[in-house]
Amino acid sequence: MLAMDYRGPKRVRVTQKPMPEIKHPQDAIVRVTRSCICGSDLHLYNGNVPDTRVGSTFGHEFIGVIEEIGSEVTKVKVGDQVLVPFNVACGQCVFCKQGLFGNCHESNPEATAVGGIFGYSHTAGGYDGGQAEYVRVPYANVGPTVIPAGMDPDDAVLLTDVVPTGYQAAEMGGIQPGDTVVVFGAGPVGIMAAKCSWLFGAGRVIVIDQVDYRLEFVRNYAQCEAYNFAEMDDPVLFIKKTTDWLGADVVIDAVGAEAAGNAMQTITGRKLLLQAGSATAVHWAINSVKKGGTVSIVGVYGPTDNLIPIGNALNKGLTIRGNQASVKRLLPRLIEHVQNGTLNPKAMITHRVPLEEIADAYRMFSAKLDNCIKTVLIPSSARM
Ligand SMILES: NC(=O)c1ccc[n+]([C@@H]2O[C@H](COP(=O)([O-])OP(=O)(O)OC[C@H]3O[C@@H](n4cnc5c(N)ncnc54)[C@H](O)[C@@H]3O)[C@@H](O)[C@H]2O)c1
Ligand SMILES: [Zn+2]
Ligand SMILES: [Zn+2]
Repeated sequence: MLAMDYRGPKRVRVTQKPMPEIKHPQDAIVRVTRSCICGSDLHLYNGNVPDTRVGSTFGHEFIGVIEEIGSEVTKVKVGDQVLVPFNVACGQCVFCKQGLFGNCHESNPEATAVGGIFGYSHTAGGYDGGQAEYVRVPYANVGPTVIPAGMDPDDAVLLTDVVPTGYQAAEMGGIQPGDTVVVFGAGPVGIMAAKCSWLFGAGRVIVIDQVDYRLEFVRNYAQCEAYNFAEMDDPVLFIKKTTDWLGADVVIDAVGAEAAGNAMQTITGRKLLLQAGSATAVHWAINSVKKGGTVSIVGVYGPTDNLIPIGNALNKGLTIRGNQASVKRLLPRLIEHVQNGTLNPKAMITHRVPLEEIADAYRMFSAKLDNCIKTVLIPSSARM
């Protein structure tokens, strides 16, 4: 089968790989009909995630058709069209039972923090991902969810990560009616976080990025304010000024380890890898939220340390929350939001690229060329 093949930082291609096989009675094999490239893939692509092995296949956002099932799979059957949450989760452990499907204790037993994630290095369990024609899906009674009749596949594929992650970013912010919410990052996750902030009762939503076409997009899509930090002396001062010098009630970091905007953070976090990515956005979040406010972090950082102003967090009395999204927990309500038109995820898809052209797709998404917001990869078998 054709599958994405990681050859080293900034080098990806498509090669022929062996077909995945059922290895456990609860496995399923899914024939992929769509997969996406995510901002999280850029951390892998840039070589910033520990133990990203040459030869691995990325891709944690995918939908497809069940081709084969193991003898203990009862919740899906061959031929079902399914969307597959990006978390690999057992459904049985103490964390899964609390709805913490991103923190499964079984799917990534070598780690103490993150659970298994499809196509996300051996740090996240070493599972092959869905930027391929076929993928093995473990715990198939837990994750794969039948796509409701009539749902557009482009909406379905965004329910595997972007929609739940943006929603959970807003949820973890504990937004109260009338709150001012600042979102750092106008990528797909930040755009969705801004949109979902209104669902929790926000009174004002402000998005900060430095890419003008994304700011323009989010302004229209999420009906919010959007500003370019490259045109500001200091984004923290800007936010203080526009909130009567109090700061925002809730600040969401939807940027993560590739953050720009601070030379020292960029050099130590992205070039020298002395910390787990550049912590510029967390820095700005802690300093621009009001005393007693909440910082919600969905931007991804690695398992090692980061330089963040913890003294300010303490002295301001902040609540800091973060996690990988718990996709399965959120799916029922988010499917409803998509079906009744409250959320329209597919409007974020700007590019549809054949799987074979994956190298160009990564380059374009990474460099933010051609007004790219979200790229969907389509294998040839799904194009016929
Ligand atoms: N927690 C989760 O479950 C989860 C799931 C999906 C993605 N993520 C993470 O969310 C983050 C965003 O994902 P995405 O797909 O939207 O990525 P993306 O790369 O498309 O978007 C990131 C945006 O941040 C902007 N940016 C860079 N530095 C900034 C700064 N200092 N302040 C404000 N904006 C800045 C970039 O210009 C870009 O538009 C990534 O770190 C990704 O790994 C987390
Ligand atoms: Zn993702
Ligand atoms: Zn579990």
